[in-house]
Amino acid sequence: MTENSDVPVQKDKLIVFDTTLRDGEQSPGATLNIEEKLEIARQLSRLGVDICEAGFPIASPGDFEAVRRIAEEVGPLTEGRKDGKPMVIAGLARANQQDIDRAYEAVKFAPRHRIHTFLATSDIHLKHKLKIDREECVEQVIKAVSYARSLCDDVEFSPEDAGRSDPEFLAVVLGEAIKAGATTLNIPDTVGYTTPEEFGWLIKYLIDNTLGSDKVIWSTHCHNDLGLATANTLAGVRNGARQVEVTINGIGERAGNTSLEEVVMAVHTRPQNFPVEVDIDTTQIIRSSRMVSAYTGMPVQPNKAIVGANAFAHEAGIHQDGMLKHHTTYEIMRPETVGLSASALVLGKHSGRHAFRTHLEAMGYDNLSEEDLNQAFKRFKRIADKKKVVTDADIEAIITDEFYQPKEIWKLNYVQVSCGDQLRATATVSLTDPNGAELVDAAIGTGPVDAVYKAINRIVEVPNTLTEFVVQAVTEGIDAIGEVTIRIQPENGHGYITNPQTGAQVIRTYSGHGASTDIIVASARAYMSALNKMLAAQQEEAAVVHTKATETVK
Ligand code: KIV
Ligand code: ZN
Repeated sequence: MTENSDVPVQKDKLIVFDTTLRDGEQSPGATLNIEEKLEIARQLSRLGVDICEAGFPIASPGDFEAVRRIAEEVGPLTEGRKDGKPMVIAGLARANQQDIDRAYEAVKFAPRHRIHTFLATSDIHLKHKLKIDREECVEQVIKAVSYARSLCDDVEFSPEDAGRSDPEFLAVVLGEAIKAGATTLNIPDTVGYTTPEEFGWLIKYLIDNTLGSDKVIWSTHCHNDLGLATANTLAGVRNGARQVEVTINGIGERAGNTSLEEVVMAVHTRPQNFPVEVDIDTTQIIRSSRMVSAYTGMPVQPNKAIVGANAFAHEAGIHQDGMLKHHTTYEIMRPETVGLSASALVLGKHSGRHAFRTHLEAMGYDNLSEEDLNQAFKRFKRIADKKKVVTDADIEAIITDEFYQPKEIWKLNYVQVSCGDQLRATATVSLTDPNGAELVDAAIGTGPVDAVYKAINRIVEVPNTLTEFVVQAVTEGIDAIGEVTIRIQPENGHGYITNPQTGAQVIRTYSGHGASTDIIVASARAYMSALNKMLAAQQEEAAVVHTKATETVK
């Protein structure tokens, strides 16, 4: 319906292409292991994403395996999806045969799959990165797209750095890509340089001036270096784009990508401004955001639109007064539309298992197994003993800490510390090793956290460098739950990965998180989480390499 009329308006579908697992994972430190990628892909399917770019298969054997398993295990899923169709699983490839073969080998297991190939078109990239001229660029695009199309009916081409490319040259390249068989043309503002007017103009110019433009879907891919990614994307949609490339929480290279939740909620909340509609289940937004934040170790800023902790908090007295009179005074979206619990009920130590389960269901955690529920309930009781009221934020922290954790290769049993201004910080820790044996050790440190980490290192003996350590209070008050996020890098030469765009070999960083009312315990849990993640990734890589070697020998 238009704003002022009852005449229904036929809207186009806006295709939501999520690249959290590819461009998002390129954010420094956002490394995910295969199980985490699978879990996120399943959540993207529940959310209603149309296309899931699952990774860059040639980057490493582990990346290939993750895309292949997503294609095989998540590719067929249709449960809860509005259009009843499964997601398309896409794999990224540079414009060469080897990359394209690898991408196809990984995605072909999904019932619906896509090869996404790209080549830079701006003079800056042609001259300084690729060292080729415009003619060679066009030839390479034709070769790559037609090769991809010989393998797969669904081929996307992206002219990297389109935002700084000559529009006339772009139209020539894209016309050739259409002739060679591309079915989607994606226009990346790779370095987040354009403004909404420019980007909207560029999309319209390309649609109007590219030969065969009516045969393809036009897409946007905006980076957020100037904080304009969402505005640019929406300008693209108003000018004819019908696919948007986005990530959960806007994670991605440098300042990130356009965030899925912002574009979806803009279209949802202001339908009169956009000629499109999406098939996204908006009530899954918060859950997707929390999962991605926990697994990538990238906290969401409190004032982040839609998913930030303060996005629906109305603290200023005047606002609260208005909200009590009528919520529309200061609220343009209902919290429950994005999956925030509608009930303001707080739980305390007398709340039973049934109340806890009902509350979790209202928060969107409606598919926990009995075992998971028991585990979460035990944690809840322990916290309720220490805090008078347990809020949704506390419960989110428990869920994140319990369930969004890597496989436990080493298990933390307990940690004890003694410290103070007249004492040398000393820690004792007990761990269970991968074979089930308990090992105990102690260490002295510059402070209690340092002592705990040194004691853990003495037992686990996996050299690594701590690159980041962040403590955050989940709620206000002296009895708040503290959440610790840390990042570590291996020191044993494991874990290099190729960045698809710069070609640089970057060392993987592993994040871990832990939550407790005791921040030393939270710090120990976070460290164990990061260590387990790093060890699991190294084991995964070794297993994939071993399988490949065995296959070659056969
Ligand atoms: O930002 C970019 O240009 C990309 C391409 C690979 C699509 O991520
Ligand atoms: Zn990008």
